Amino acid sequence: MPRVNTKLVCWEEVVDWCRKLAEAVEASGFKPDLIVSIARGGYIPARLLCDFLDVHDLVSLQVLHWGKAAEITAVAHVKYPYDLNLSGKRVLLVDDILDTGDSVIVARDYILSRWKPAELKIAAMQWISSVAKIKPDFYVEEVKDWIWYQYPWTRAEDTTNFFEKIISERVKEQKSEWSYEELVNEFKEWYGIDVGDSYYKLAVKRLKKNGKLEEKEGRYRVRY
Ligand code: ADE
Repeated sequence: MPRVNTKLVCWEEVVDWCRKLAEAVEASGFKPDLIVSIARGGYIPARLLCDFLDVHDLVSLQVLHWGKAAEITAVAHVKYPYDLNLSGKRVLLVDDILDTGDSVIVARDYILSRWKPAELKIAAMQWISSVAKIKPDFYVEEVKDWIWYQYPWTRAEDTTNFFEKIISERVKEQKSEWSYEELVNEFKEWYGIDVGDSYYKLAVKRLKKNGKLEEKEGRYRVRY
């Protein structure tokens, strides 16, 4: 049994989910003039929705939860605030997943108060209904048991973070040296997915670059 409930998502599933999302938007009668993607997770679903819904206007808003030095900030915030006049426009706000809902709430409130569209609706491929503070107007999957969706656009980042988590947990048990195979095997065991050799290699390279691992004769020493 993996320690973290993780689903490896492939590109075809993303296209399929976004097609279904577009069908739900169309069936509702809502006709967006413009799509706003929440950066960074909403970029690819938003672009696919533009294609499926024949929407030509796409802008983005980046919402952050983390402050400097990885300190969590009390409230999520818009990283690059800017102004737009969306009066009279119908907006579809898009993210990949609605987990706690904090990003979407911040983006929605920002857009409504600063850009003043005529109407705004929210779409996400996944809605984690057990933890989310709000329900999106459109979604494809309702997720009741929390799960980490390993989307194709965060594969390198997630693999690096997952390795880092494994290393930092195991260092508490005095494990401070790894072979590449040990790292990969433990990754598969903890997360129950296999992202493939090219991603494992990229993640190890990143951990070496940012000083978390040191390579010596084919073995990796943990630096802390
Ligand atoms: N971003 C926020 N929550 C997430 C989740 N459960 N899976 C993937 N990406 C996320």
